[in-house]
Amino acid sequence: MSQALEGFRILDMTHVQAGPTASQLMAWMGADVIKFEPPNGDATRGQLRDVPGADSLYFTMLNCNKRSITVNMKSPEGKQVFTELLGECDVIMENFGPGVLDRLGFTWETVHSINPRIVMASIKGFGSSGPYADFKAYENVAQAMGGAMSTTGVPDGPPFVTGAQIGDSGTGLHLVIGILAALHQRTRTGLGQYVEVAMMDSVMNLCRVKWRDHQRLTRGPLPEYSVHTEQGMPYTPRAGNDSGGGQLGNAIHCKPHGTNDYIYVVVQEAVWEALARRVGGDALATDARFATIGERRRNQNEVWHLLNEFAASYTKREFMAILNELDVPCGPIMSTEDLADDEHVRGREMYVELDHPQRGKWHNVGMPIKLSASPAVIERSPLLGEHTDEILTQVLGYDSARVEQLKAAGAFSAPPKKK
Ligand SMILES: CC(C)(COP(=O)(O)OP(=O)(O)OC[C@H]1O[C@@H](n2cnc3c(N)ncnc32)[C@H](O)[C@@H]1OP(=O)(O)O)[C@@H](O)C(=O)NCCC(=O)NCCS
Repeated sequence: MSQALEGFRILDMTHVQAGPTASQLMAWMGADVIKFEPPNGDATRGQLRDVPGADSLYFTMLNCNKRSITVNMKSPEGKQVFTELLGECDVIMENFGPGVLDRLGFTWETVHSINPRIVMASIKGFGSSGPYADFKAYENVAQAMGGAMSTTGVPDGPPFVTGAQIGDSGTGLHLVIGILAALHQRTRTGLGQYVEVAMMDSVMNLCRVKWRDHQRLTRGPLPEYSVHTEQGMPYTPRAGNDSGGGQLGNAIHCKPHGTNDYIYVVVQEAVWEALARRVGGDALATDARFATIGERRRNQNEVWHLLNEFAASYTKREFMAILNELDVPCGPIMSTEDLADDEHVRGREMYVELDHPQRGKWHNVGMPIKLSASPAVIERSPLLGEHTDEILTQVLGYDSARVEQLKAAGAFSAPPKKK
């Protein structure tokens, strides 16, 4: 079966998480992704290792379905191999620190002149312009500077990072969208272009509703917030587990009241009466304090109190069953343990078992984009330099004498350490 991106070849210089998550998605959609690594490899191969001597899960979970070549870009021969690969690829992806590729001699202008059809896709912490352009960034730096942390947590506590990697993987998603758009435009123009995605910009994009609220505060308080807000408040506050939308919502603690015994309940307008009747009989269903959405917003802390009281007799799954019958939008808080064992998750191939020559059986989170005509086939990540010879011969057409000559010249290995 042919795959959606079959025929596209990607020169993937990305490392750590933000870039590799993007190129892994492209590989899962069928692109030939060549992971172009320095001789000592993507640093994450050795980070947070759980099996001695084996590539870490950090690496294996972000680099599936890729081929690995190691090239020393600080040698003239390595630069030559890189230049020739540029001529054979549709996309080059990178997420180095500011100026790294420029220092190696490969600005966008140079890359474009080598292969005018190539799309060059870069992730930077803050982009290539503006006062922050020279700064490096990691996930939580982007969450801090993109507005996520200041709006996550409770007002009288510290700002919190979210568990979801919106700074890294969220930025990777933006990059994939940019690359696909650029490839599409290339079919009309014949030319590649430079795609730049900044982590800070991506986090801002993902915090869009907080900007809605930031501007609404100039006109009045935010009635749907359970925490105090008032007209003229200069920033959007942290609001715990408030829904953040037009419908009220919160996390309700269930039996036996452990760390993850919660269910998120959205008290949608349409379901209030049925929910109220189930929780507190006719008395609650006709209680004037909750008769309208405005009243429920005003008295929402009492709504949460009543739901918490009711939920104390049920586990999150039992409460879910009750709410499902009433068509109340809800979701139990799923721990990683819950998810790893979940029938729905397994059925949708969102937690898949793979084999790896160094670590044996392991699991990866599956492909969240389901293409009906070309579903992803997930394969393990490559070992460091596993495909160096294959890529040199198959993609660049080198013969074995040329490969050996380049090896001897140090094109694929780290320079010896200075004594
Ligand atoms: C993630 C980050 C902070 C890591 O910083 P770092 O470990 O210092 O790595 P850098 O990207 O700055 O530099 C990589 C170095 O490896 C070198 N290198 C990379 N590939 C190479 C190769 N194939 N051969 C030889 N050297 C290579 C580069 O030349 C550079 O060396 P230099 O510092 O002498 O210029 C930084 O890359 C960054 O800010 N990236 C953009 C934002 C981002 O994606 N962050 C999220 C990561 S999940």
